[in-house]
Amino acid sequence: MSIATLLFLLLLVLLVIASVGAFIFLVSPGLTEWRLRKNGFTGPTPSFPLGNILDMCKKEKMNREPSQGPLQPSHDIHSLVFPYFARWCKSYGKVFIYWLGTEPFLYVAEPEYIKNLSSVVAAKNWGKPTVFKRDRKPMFGDGLIMVEGDNWVRHRHITTPAFSTSKLNAMISSMVESTSNMLGEWSAITSAGAREVDIERDIIRNASEIIAKASFGINNDEGKAVFEKLKAMQAALFTSNRLVGVPFSKYLHAKETLKTRRLGEEIDGLLFSIIESRNNERPSNAPQHDLLGLLIAGNQNSSRLTSRELVDECKTFFFGGHETTALALTWTLFLLALNPRWQTILREEITEAMGGGDINSNTLTKLTKMTWVMNEALRLYSPAPNVQRQVREDIRVGDNAVIPKGTNIWIDVVGMHHDRALWGDDVNEFRPERFQDSPYGGCKHRMGFLPFGFGGRVCVGRNLSMMEYKIVLSLVLQRFSLSLSPNYNHSPSIMLSLRPSNGMPLILEPL
Ligand code: HEM
Repeated sequence: MSIATLLFLLLLVLLVIASVGAFIFLVSPGLTEWRLRKNGFTGPTPSFPLGNILDMCKKEKMNREPSQGPLQPSHDIHSLVFPYFARWCKSYGKVFIYWLGTEPFLYVAEPEYIKNLSSVVAAKNWGKPTVFKRDRKPMFGDGLIMVEGDNWVRHRHITTPAFSTSKLNAMISSMVESTSNMLGEWSAITSAGAREVDIERDIIRNASEIIAKASFGINNDEGKAVFEKLKAMQAALFTSNRLVGVPFSKYLHAKETLKTRRLGEEIDGLLFSIIESRNNERPSNAPQHDLLGLLIAGNQNSSRLTSRELVDECKTFFFGGHETTALALTWTLFLLALNPRWQTILREEITEAMGGGDINSNTLTKLTKMTWVMNEALRLYSPAPNVQRQVREDIRVGDNAVIPKGTNIWIDVVGMHHDRALWGDDVNEFRPERFQDSPYGGCKHRMGFLPFGFGGRVCVGRNLSMMEYKIVLSLVLQRFSLSLSPNYNHSPSIMLSLRPSNGMPLILEPL
């Protein structure tokens, strides 16, 4: 073959690659943008291939209810954590299109619209955004959070029974044990004369230990090693602020990407070996009472989960379960530190429910005011700040609007939880009693309160998180009274979950 022919072939290959790239990153998004606009959807104008990302990165000041001094921070946080959405809502309303790179997202903060969406699409027919599936593959793999279609039905069917209250009751003592260790450390700190503790760090550490015990057990070396590597993976994943949706952006963080991939392979290997040794245990051995043990015991028929799928579920429970619950507790302790009256109310309820005994399943069901407090904390500081879906087939909403296949849906939970039109003028106040007579806290629309998502895909772990929340909070309030440290800097921000960006230093007084 002559050099001229070789050059020609090379040129041809480059041309094909360039054309495919241009189609994927320019023509196809452009066509979708045109279809969406034709269907009446408006939104900020994107520029490809970044979409609206540059606009989202802009720093800006928004009008918010001011804090009443450093020790009375404002709970009006929507425009603080999502300034771009707060700004776009003013121009385009509560339903509009924006672009993350080359991926279109339908922003929704309108409960009636969510109700309409769920009435036209069944739970199993929703997808999850491809960009997030790719980005979060090391954490969730093909576990319940990410699977779709019939596969989702199978996973959900097998995992749900493991989260029934009767099964979870067996985990109470291990939750009490981990939390008592944490409180022992706090007591040692206060006895040594220090009063301030960054409770966020400790609560997250405690929750990760609780969820690792609850998911796959850490009473042997392999379980402990999985736990350590999962924590290392989480740290690697969140050191970089990744540009989700931007083509090839993962190569900007090649070091972290390689590190998480390596950790992911090591974690998988260890979990495979835990599963294998459990599968090889004699049937006469009592099943282990962690989620993995319950899944293996219930994994008998033809639609059983494979070992690969069990591995992904263990990772999903760990990543989906510990930070969310830990943040619900962290924000609750913050709110209680600002509201000593509610500390007293809860302490009285706990004393009455326990009647001098230990915490057990009966005690937990008696803690009704604590349930209101949990709901109010999840409303004001929802650890899961958004719920996501992807449209797998064109869907028609209302009279004539069609949402094209491939469009992602981004439901702004923080936006709805702070919407004055839905909650009234006290929307940014801590008032747990709003949940006294209504599971929706008196919200004008049932779909306006979505801390655990909605429809068939609602959080499968909410019983577990409620149990852990009540146990940890009861034990903390029995031992300490709390107030906010003057060193606290109120700056909630989104890092997958809604977290305090400068930790949560509280002053602890032993009781
Ligand atoms: C306060 C604590 C928690 C919050 C705020 C929370 C929130 C959520 C939200 C918003 C969703 C998405 C629902 C949707 O797409 O409609 C979800 C799904 C899920 N959560 Fe949770 N979660 C919490 C605790 C847990 C725990 C403790 C576990 C497990 C140990 C867990 C496991 C899952 C799983 C597996 C899914 C996927 C369910 C499905 O798609 O079928 N979560 N959670």
